[in-house]
Amino acid sequence: MTSITTSVRLGWRLYAISILVLCSSLFSSLALADSGRERLSLDRGWLFHLGDIPIPEIKGHGATYGNAKAGNAQGAAATRYNDGDWRKLDLPHDWAVEGPFDPKANVSQGYRPRGISWYRRYLRVDENERGRYFELQFDGIATHASIWVNGNIVHRNWSGYNASNIDITPYLRYGDASNTIAIRVDAEQMEGWWYEGAGIYRHAWLLKSNPVHIITDGVHATPKQLNDKQWQIPVEVTLDNSGKQAADVKVEVTVFSPDNKAIASKTQTVRVPLLGKTTASLPVTIKQPERWTLDKPTLYSVKTVVLQDNKAIDEVHLKTGFRSIRFDAQQGFFLNNQHVKLQGVCLHQDHAGVGVAVPDSIWEYRLRRLKELGVNAIRFSHNAPAPEVLDMVDRMGFLVMDENRNFNPSPDYMKQLEWMVRRDRHHPGVILWSVFNEEPVQGTEVGYEMARRMTAVVKALDDTRPVTAAMNGGFFTALNVSHAVDVLGANYQVPDYDRYHKANPNKPFTSSEDTSAFMTRGEFTTDNSKNLIASYDDDFAKWGNSHRDAWQAIDSRPYVAGGFVWTGFDYRGEPTPNEWPSVSSVFGIMDLNGFPKTAYYMHQVQWIKDRPLIHIAPHWNWQGQEGKEIRVMVMANVERIKLLLNGRELGEQQVDPYRMNTFKVAYEAGKLEAFGYKGGKEVVRTSVETTGQAVALELLPDRASLAGDGHDAMPITVRALDAQGRAVPIDHSEVSFEISGAGQSIGHGNGDPNSHEDEKGKTRELFNGLAQLIVQSHFDGSGELLVKASAPGLQAASVRIPVQKTAAIPFVAVSDAPMLYLQNWRISPAYATRPDPNQALADNDMNTWNWGNPPLLEVAAKGSDEKANHFHLFRSNFIQDKRLSSGKARLLFTRINGKAEIWLNGKLLGSKTSLGTADLSVDLPASEGPAQLTVLVEAGPGKKAGLEGNIIAEPKK
Ligand code: GAL
Repeated sequence: MTSITTSVRLGWRLYAISILVLCSSLFSSLALADSGRERLSLDRGWLFHLGDIPIPEIKGHGATYGNAKAGNAQGAAATRYNDGDWRKLDLPHDWAVEGPFDPKANVSQGYRPRGISWYRRYLRVDENERGRYFELQFDGIATHASIWVNGNIVHRNWSGYNASNIDITPYLRYGDASNTIAIRVDAEQMEGWWYEGAGIYRHAWLLKSNPVHIITDGVHATPKQLNDKQWQIPVEVTLDNSGKQAADVKVEVTVFSPDNKAIASKTQTVRVPLLGKTTASLPVTIKQPERWTLDKPTLYSVKTVVLQDNKAIDEVHLKTGFRSIRFDAQQGFFLNNQHVKLQGVCLHQDHAGVGVAVPDSIWEYRLRRLKELGVNAIRFSHNAPAPEVLDMVDRMGFLVMDENRNFNPSPDYMKQLEWMVRRDRHHPGVILWSVFNEEPVQGTEVGYEMARRMTAVVKALDDTRPVTAAMNGGFFTALNVSHAVDVLGANYQVPDYDRYHKANPNKPFTSSEDTSAFMTRGEFTTDNSKNLIASYDDDFAKWGNSHRDAWQAIDSRPYVAGGFVWTGFDYRGEPTPNEWPSVSSVFGIMDLNGFPKTAYYMHQVQWIKDRPLIHIAPHWNWQGQEGKEIRVMVMANVERIKLLLNGRELGEQQVDPYRMNTFKVAYEAGKLEAFGYKGGKEVVRTSVETTGQAVALELLPDRASLAGDGHDAMPITVRALDAQGRAVPIDHSEVSFEISGAGQSIGHGNGDPNSHEDEKGKTRELFNGLAQLIVQSHFDGSGELLVKASAPGLQAASVRIPVQKTAAIPFVAVSDAPMLYLQNWRISPAYATRPDPNQALADNDMNTWNWGNPPLLEVAAKGSDEKANHFHLFRSNFIQDKRLSSGKARLLFTRINGKAEIWLNGKLLGSKTSLGTADLSVDLPASEGPAQLTVLVEAGPGKKAGLEGNIIAEPKK
């Protein structure tokens, strides 16, 4: 694992902080080839078809019989479907964000049509890899996915928020033969009431390992505190064996300190049954480990090695941390026995420009923005996040409520819950499991019975964390969900907080969701005709509170562990209180790009206590409104503040930490300044200034460079400056982008909830002075990425971003699809004399001819007898489509063994007259439609003959 220290510049404020962009560690435990384990990125080289491709109607006995057989999926799920004209793309991918907005589409999903689409990919596996275990891993597909490998349905996944880990070993073909992955994604299905995107929007992987291997998420390493000095990690390792005999193996667990010293280890010998699983228990004791804290999130590594005959055959690494957590019914939450008020936000998972296909480095940017805001807790609502996000959470120091999507204790859905707990239980950041968000049955016996079962399943997998459920009522009934969980999570319901606590003084309590206030970034006048909402914290949902009221209610009650503001960032969909033309929510403390609204500064001064902060809202560009009273809010975390306009004192006030401070100021162009005092001394100051007209554009990259690995991405802030170089907060110029060099644009946004601009297009308007362009390096990128921005009447801006040559994340080679890969051959019985190659085979005859795929080598009768049975027919059907019907296409037979005649629809296309093995190419006649291909093969006496390699139909080069 390598880490790169990168100097980071934060867009609108030019200060540099050094952060660890753990580019490759985002892809942890990748290629441990020495032990036989390789986890290769499968993000590259997909083919995509927008829209559904219905499975063709199956008619006729032969076709019906065939359709019912393994490997014989039809239509685009079939191995030999012609996808030659599909779009090529790399994952992660969200097709909904590429589409237009449609007022007839669902408001909740942000008026983005979603629908059904297909993905396909080809995969070659070396002959020498036969015998290994192969697993396909999709970290998230929105929303329902059906997955085929070589025409076999191998998985159906009914949630857009959990991973699909699929053993594909039995279906694989090796050597030249191509394997086909086909995925039908049904994004007409919905699991939420927010924008959910569409497609394979998280990473995909191919795991290759020894047949005796640790199952995915199979290392359970959750530390437990034994006493003041000692901790234990009761490590459990689950192994599977897809080999051909039972295996006696040694499992070895080693814990490494943050400075990479082995500090404890344990081994156990176990027998892994043939085609079965077993679990090894290896409790390791750790003395006085360094604690994982919010300020210093120290991580330890747990390395698990499986040895057979003293040779490592598998190896898994994961990180964990030592921290204690406690929810106290009177005093709230304690981390390592220290009280921590949860200063939390709820997050959905889409970002400007990219929809839900958010690169890991953009998640890193989002989390960094939250850290700067003073957030210490995140509720990933209402679903488990991408795995890389939780790794970052651990490294950066956040507490997490990890939430299950579907409230349903039936077996299929229970698997989703189990998957989340198994995947996430080693993360020190995770402090709460949430089994649901706001369920209508929450106040009933049914809700209780459902939640009780789900809680039990969580506890069986992890007994170190409490379970909660985010309830928006129902917790006063005689029997309800609160009775089945450890911590009462209340969504809104502020007027009931005290009543509940009085009635249930021993039940730990947290707000699981609060606020739901509305602000449009950069707007300070509400204009309902334009769906714009002023950023003064006056407007909030009926069920919610202003930012200030919600925090006051939480902060002033010691028994409330903390709060989770709805939401940290705006998200697409749910544009409450508006509808079309609004397409995004306005609940965020930041907009969809992570640009701050006034709420950002309100929370920042409430949440950050270790340094003085002061902010002013609004901006000071009210040209034309001279003399008019402007409402000025000063937000500070000091004792007193003073406001000055053009050097004149306007007043001094005691800081109000909950309400903030308000002044009425008659507008006059110039400089509005605020000074902050502590103990009578000025400790901090800020100002806003009236700017001139915009004259130039400016581009502010978030970081100093990009890693050239094809994954690393960064936001670039785009803004307009006046002649004195000051950002103009009211500019709405339309900016055009030109990107060249070692990377590309992957989208842009501006935080305008009413914008219908193409998020992938070449232009973007500034919204209240800001837009954000997201650029990503090319695979194998090195050199520079050049971004040019221009706008009418403004001086253009450009920036060169160094793209550092970076080792690629180990990936599965992109394998070109053969144009048409002929499969599902019928094989005639052997004939002693030349048979009629065009003989009909009855449609109801499933038995006289055999079935198979190359290599198809039939043995001729022994001896040199002329009458020996040394003729065979091989037959396959395909559709000769447009690209194969022009008269410029061919059939390519790799390695035909024996003499051969090639017949298509009763016509001889070519022949091979030698007995040995050779390739053969024959021209396809100009003709369209169903084609019956028959190959007559003649073997030499006593020899094998037939079709050894692939047969493909392709246009001639
Ligand atoms: C809550 C819900 C959230 C969101 C929010 C809007 O009831 O849990 O998902 O819809 O309301 O205020």
